[in-house]
Amino acid sequence: MIEHVPVMVEEVCDAVSHAPSLHKIVDATLGLGGYTKAFLTRWPDVSVLGIDKDPLAIQVAKDNLADFHNRVKFHNGDFRNLANILLEENFMEPDAIVFDLGVSNLQISQGERGFSFDIDGPLDMRMGVGGTLTADEIVNSYSKEELANIFRRYGEEKYAARIAWGICKYRQEKGSIKTTGQLVEVIRKTLPAPVQRKMGKNPARRVFQALRIEVNDELRALEDVMAACKKVVKGGTIIVVVSYHSLEDKIIKKQFKEWATTGLGKMLTKKVLKPSEEEISRNKKARSAKLRCFIFSSEGKDA
Ligand SMILES: C[S@@+](CC[C@H](N)C(=O)[O-])C[C@H]1O[C@@H](n2cnc3c(N)ncnc32)[C@H](O)[C@@H]1O
Repeated sequence: MIEHVPVMVEEVCDAVSHAPSLHKIVDATLGLGGYTKAFLTRWPDVSVLGIDKDPLAIQVAKDNLADFHNRVKFHNGDFRNLANILLEENFMEPDAIVFDLGVSNLQISQGERGFSFDIDGPLDMRMGVGGTLTADEIVNSYSKEELANIFRRYGEEKYAARIAWGICKYRQEKGSIKTTGQLVEVIRKTLPAPVQRKMGKNPARRVFQALRIEVNDELRALEDVMAACKKVVKGGTIIVVVSYHSLEDKIIKKQFKEWATTGLGKMLTKKVLKPSEEEISRNKKARSAKLRCFIFSSEGKDA
């Protein structure tokens, strides 16, 4: 059985508990249902709407949450359509909306989805519904400049230009790159050994992050859903976001600041919250997590 240990779940629950009333929670990134299970267990009066764009995540979460079936609704869709989803599910004005960004262990552990640089599989990386662009298309059809640009922007990869050059050279000499293993090999062959030693972990790590963000249009989806939140909340609604890299965190921080300065509410996390050392030692995935929380005020909403 595939497990996904939920990250900062206690801190997320504490943040949600600041809501003045607590009956309806949107788990906008349901995954395997770890957060939702914690909400339903902790608060017997709460119902949850769980959204995920990955149909398999929805299927697994349904099994994991079978004991709570009368208090949870499932929606397979992209959270960037939050306003329409909440209308359709009759779940407007929730008390809290929670995001746990990125990929789940379920997705990473399935080699055939192409998310992992440790397991060989096709270059896919689509999280779910609606996606047509694949990592294969990017790796094999983007120009050297376009590749370098996304590796730099979305992977914050120092050796972006060199890796892009290596990929294009391989394409010219040997043809297309079809698998994650092949891509890792090309990156390893492109970077000198001392550079790879300096990079520490797998040298393909940042390139894989960049490809995943581009394939799933993750940063624009995050900007879109932040804009959508404003349309569906009420005074007192709490927004909690757990993010895993600085690009996501920058978007959240900027959005929360803008809402605060325009009088829509206030940030409940003046400083970003990070997981405890104890949690990091138990769950390495928590290492880069950052939690931010915002509460909409009734004055702000009514203004
Ligand atoms: C880190 S996992 C969430 C894990 C979950 N908190 C748990 O405890 O099991 C992130 C999930 O968000 C989903 N996701 C990412 N972007 C999405 C989007 N734009 N719309 C809907 N779901 C998305 C992914 O498919 C993945 O299942």
